Amino acid sequence: MKRATEIELAEEILDLQERKVPFLDDAVTSSPVEHYCDPHRLELEREKLFRSIPQPVVHSSELPTPGSFLRRDFAGLPLLFTRDEDGQVHTFINVCRHRGSRLVQDHEGCKQRFTCPYHAWTWNNRGELTGMPHGELGFPELDRSALGLKRLGCSERHGFIWVLANTDQAPDVDTTLAGLAEDFEWFDAASHVVQHSDVEVRSVNWKILVEGGIEAYHFRVTHRKTIAPYFNDNLSTYRQFGPHLRSVLSKRSIAELRDQPTDQWRLRDHSQVLYTLMASSQFLVQSDHIAWITVDPLTPSSSRIRISTLVPADLVATEEDRAHWAKNHAITVQTLAEDFDIGEGIQAGLTTGANDTLTFGRFEGALNAFNTSVRERL
Ligand code: FES
Ligand SMILES: [Fe+2]
Repeated sequence: MKRATEIELAEEILDLQERKVPFLDDAVTSSPVEHYCDPHRLELEREKLFRSIPQPVVHSSELPTPGSFLRRDFAGLPLLFTRDEDGQVHTFINVCRHRGSRLVQDHEGCKQRFTCPYHAWTWNNRGELTGMPHGELGFPELDRSALGLKRLGCSERHGFIWVLANTDQAPDVDTTLAGLAEDFEWFDAASHVVQHSDVEVRSVNWKILVEGGIEAYHFRVTHRKTIAPYFNDNLSTYRQFGPHLRSVLSKRSIAELRDQPTDQWRLRDHSQVLYTLMASSQFLVQSDHIAWITVDPLTPSSSRIRISTLVPADLVATEEDRAHWAKNHAITVQTLAEDFDIGEGIQAGLTTGANDTLTFGRFEGALNAFNTSVRERL
């Protein structure tokens, strides 16, 4: 983020806080409940959003050394991530090219070769087929070079491994960030490590989960026992970058900036700067760390959620540091659980006939912007 933008965003919140008005869109909008329940729509969302826009699926620190590998299911695909001896990252579908057995069983580790548990065909971590027991006799005509692991497009950028699942070509991440590349430089996740990670499956559509993060209207009520006392009531702003959003969820302490020269202003000390990347990731940039929340739809009414706490790599050395991050991560998980509980309640009510649409107020405009972007991509 440019310094001028950081100051402009802080000034905008200070002005709204002073005038005691929220950030308002022009109109009240709505979203049809069937958009959150329809299996055909989910298939389309997977195809047009999750598999057709580069998605950050793994943090670079999760594949720390040459030879590292990691399994992760995403967008209905069982994925295998490897880092080869040159440090290059690869993404494959974790399926054997012989008769389709799951190739790698371990979830992570360090390995140069992967041998199928069924008949022991073997690949190296660049995806090349290197072993086929009794191959000369059994498969005399087969072209081994055509039997590499099925490769998906991936690029390592801004500290993440971005996957473009509908091609084997590496995506140009900065272009798809639609103006947010500067912001990624600013929060610099590349200098961070994943210190804690939690995965859970919740009975809620993925869009309800995203919507739950991009307004501050609910803070005072839903989060009254956790974070609400620190935040301004119903005071958040947002901007669109292509299909992505940047929101500022402001804290009461932002008022302190009035007594500070602008060259000392640090927006993330007085707000959570939230990036909602179409479609699977939200980055909550906080004072000294980043919470990375990914959502992966399993069915229209269930989603796998991963909450990771990214912390500066040079701040994990001492026992005291690690205790600090463990506490931080626990607070993030607890606060988000409050959102997810509400989300599951919403999902359970969608098919009751109580509502044909969900209604978004003028200070919930980010929800309409998000749903409009989804609709446009479909
Ligand atoms: S299915 Fe993998 S080697 Fe046969
Ligand atoms: Fe919330």
